Amino acid sequence: MTEQFKGMKPSRRAFLRGAAAVGGATAMGTSAAAQGDPAITELKPWNQFLGEGVDASPYGMPSKFEAHVRRQDVPWLTADPISSINFTPLHEMDGIITPNGLCFERHHGGVAEVDPAEHRIMINGLVDRELVFTMEDLMRFPRENHVYFLECAANSGMEWRGAQLNGCQYTHGMIHNVMYTGVPLRLLLEEAGVKTEGKWLLAEGADASGMTRSIPMEKALDDCLVAFKMNGEALRPEQGYPVRLVVPGWEGNMWIKWLRRLEVGDKPWHQREETSKYTDLLGDGRARRFTWEMDAKSVITSPSPQAPITHGKGQTVITGVAWSGRGTIPRVDVTIDGGVNWHEARMSGPSLDKSMHRFYYEFDWDGSELLLQSRAHDSTGYVQPTKDQLRAVRGLNSIYHNNGIQTWFVNSDGVAENVEIS
Ligand code: MTE
Ligand code: CO
Repeated sequence: MTEQFKGMKPSRRAFLRGAAAVGGATAMGTSAAAQGDPAITELKPWNQFLGEGVDASPYGMPSKFEAHVRRQDVPWLTADPISSINFTPLHEMDGIITPNGLCFERHHGGVAEVDPAEHRIMINGLVDRELVFTMEDLMRFPRENHVYFLECAANSGMEWRGAQLNGCQYTHGMIHNVMYTGVPLRLLLEEAGVKTEGKWLLAEGADASGMTRSIPMEKALDDCLVAFKMNGEALRPEQGYPVRLVVPGWEGNMWIKWLRRLEVGDKPWHQREETSKYTDLLGDGRARRFTWEMDAKSVITSPSPQAPITHGKGQTVITGVAWSGRGTIPRVDVTIDGGVNWHEARMSGPSLDKSMHRFYYEFDWDGSELLLQSRAHDSTGYVQPTKDQLRAVRGLNSIYHNNGIQTWFVNSDGVAENVEIS
């Protein structure tokens, strides 16, 4: 024990002695008898001086002590930062909502700085009336609020062949979960009057990449939103200000940002688009093309490589997130011994359709090495597969749609590492 906890703060040692005295039972917090903790006995600047007034920060920012909580990119991943991606710091977050400033970004032509007064949304093609909406027009339709995750199809793509990146921010951080306010796409399409031959929708962005994607009319009329608010405030420029398409449960690629045009057509534009992008290569060289729904997936966010265990043995909280493009997550299992024993995790927070879910598993860590994994079950009964199970079906040449079970190895110092076990 002495070796294990060498270098710990005096107050902490006192606590551990105290805990041992009562039979090693886990106790949280330090005994009040632990006098001399400078955090209690010494005056701090914030005890002695008045703080800044209400006008110091008209748009609030996080504490300076949270400056390390930020989106990060992996410079070698893409040739330049304009057509690139960064990652949500999942290991620093809790609950289910991603704060706007931490939502990962994926741009093909950089961030478009759109002036909402000069922005229009056009509906054309196989409709009774071709229409153009201003942002003000959009606001006159009945709006709805929904929390949905957006996951890039390439999330975990670097992990197909084996453990690569050391942190859940990098392995799983191409995801965010936001409450959107928007107008159901169905209402705009009804206003234009979709002709019976109109089976497909081409959505186009106003950015320099002129990003377009096709969406089947069935999905467009189902739960898609034309959204202008995220978590209560205007969309961030990075997320498509002033308006983006929300395609619940489907791959992030279809969620066109800076949405400017919706063209109704009679056939899938996919046949006209590049087919090399966003297809799943199967082991035998064939490609699986129409994989839009995101399969159930989960990851332990703490402990994880960027969030090691620093408090030593005893009561330890494991937490993580799970989601499914097909519904809710009624259950997540957690193992600390690489799958020998599975434990049902405790779900906490709202369980919403096609939204992130939060799970916890508390246990008494004896300081031995751990192999942590989580396994999501979705409301359709689907169970998250192992990476080997996925590879057996999809081979090694895939990039997209990797929803395999993630493993973290934790050593006796609490340091965590990305590994694979079979
Ligand atoms: N829409 C436009 N107009 N331009 C883009 O580059 N990238 C797409 C999609 N919509 C993109 C876009 C991809 S691949 C993803 S994963 C999501 O937006 C990312 O959304 P986010 O930047 O809000 O995370
Ligand atoms: Co993407």
